[in-house]
Amino acid sequence: MYVKWDDSYSNGIEVFDNQHKGLFKLINDLHDGIREKKNREALGTALVALMDYTKTHFADEENAMRLAGYPDYEKHKTKHVAFIAQVSDIRDRYLNNEPVMTMELVALLVNWLKNHIQTVDRAYGPHLKASGA
Ligand code: FEO
Repeated sequence: MYVKWDDSYSNGIEVFDNQHKGLFKLINDLHDGIREKKNREALGTALVALMDYTKTHFADEENAMRLAGYPDYEKHKTKHVAFIAQVSDIRDRYLNNEPVMTMELVALLVNWLKNHIQTVDRAYGPHLKASGA
């Protein structure tokens, strides 16, 4: 599943729109790697790059929400923690030589991120904007 940015993903906070675009690019890289049947090392590198960028992005978002006194900060952070746990599990299974690098994996990541960005990430936009983000 290839994912393409459009305005329905924008929450009006430039830094986070740009980070979300970066996440889409890394997911598409993983998608392309699987489709092109790249080797194990290349796919592992793509998965770790996505995971690392996601962690950095979540930390930046959580920091901004906390500083802005966003009321749904804790609830939002819980969703981030659950997603990282899910991706960590996939990485561990991959390191265990399980066949996890599939288009189903990409679809799962894409669906989670699209839904998250279009709902809870969009929800903090007005609050952060009002607090000067
Ligand atoms: Fe952009 Fe809440 O992740």
